Amino acid sequence: MAINLTPDLAPALAEELHGKNAAQVLELLASRFAGAIAFSTSFGWEDQALTHLIFSQDLPIRVFTLDTGRMFNETYSTWQQTLDKYKKPIESFFPNTQKVEEHMTTKGSFSFYESVENRQECCAIRKIEPLDRALERMRCWVTGIRAEQSDNRASMRNVEWDAKRGIIKVHPLFDWTLDETTNFIRTNNIPYNPLHDKGFVSIGCAPCTRAVREGESFRSGRWWWEDASKKECGLHGTASLGTPTFGSTSFSTAATEPHSQ
Ligand code: ADX
Ligand code: SF4
Repeated sequence: MAINLTPDLAPALAEELHGKNAAQVLELLASRFAGAIAFSTSFGWEDQALTHLIFSQDLPIRVFTLDTGRMFNETYSTWQQTLDKYKKPIESFFPNTQKVEEHMTTKGSFSFYESVENRQECCAIRKIEPLDRALERMRCWVTGIRAEQSDNRASMRNVEWDAKRGIIKVHPLFDWTLDETTNFIRTNNIPYNPLHDKGFVSIGCAPCTRAVREGESFRSGRWWWEDASKKECGLHGTASLGTPTFGSTSFSTAATEPHSQ
């Protein structure tokens, strides 16, 4: 039966998923949104954990990445290692050639350092337009967002309504800590971006990401020259909670049932 997609679906689904572990959340979503569910990966720790859960359980969830053309070599290597390990497809969405050509011709290679507007323009071309294409005809979008990553993210919900696209957005690892995430990666021998071992906790495009020092916040290495309050690139700026009466729900931080690996 086709699901009626309305903002109210977010709190109802959150209620239904309450207390489930990440594997169970993904399984339920895959069957509920069959043929219309996609997971976006940037190959960071969280995304690698989700990729492992999706691929090793053979879940019918599309996995895609937005290749901005400005990523670290280490990120491309992680992408390749993931293909080699799981032998499953990862769809690549690349920015519109003409838009990138125009942008580089008129603004040069590093316009994003000059102003927030310039930075958002680059993110719009290299990330948002490809994301919109990747999510066409989708009804559910899965991400690796965790609440702990920033104050802004802590104010999000694990299940949201993406008003711009009219779809449900779910963050199965929302309540996981960084330690839980890295332990899961190591225990399951999942390939991960080697930059994580060099102080890069959150990894985006190469010119816009740097390592953080002990005690600095997760996202302080992203667009570090900007005011902290503006540090979202627009990928995650349009979701809402659905009905205002939405109560507090959470997923289990256990990845899977014991012995289910
Ligand atoms: S960002 O908005 O600042 O770039 P972040 O790097 O924290 O986001 O990643 C949060 C989630 O956004 C990831 O878990 C992933 O689902 C999605 N995401 C971010 N960048 C990409 C990308 N280049 N390709 C696909 N998904 C991405
Ligand atoms: Fe452009 Fe930097 Fe945004 Fe990547 S993160 S799309 S390089 S502004």
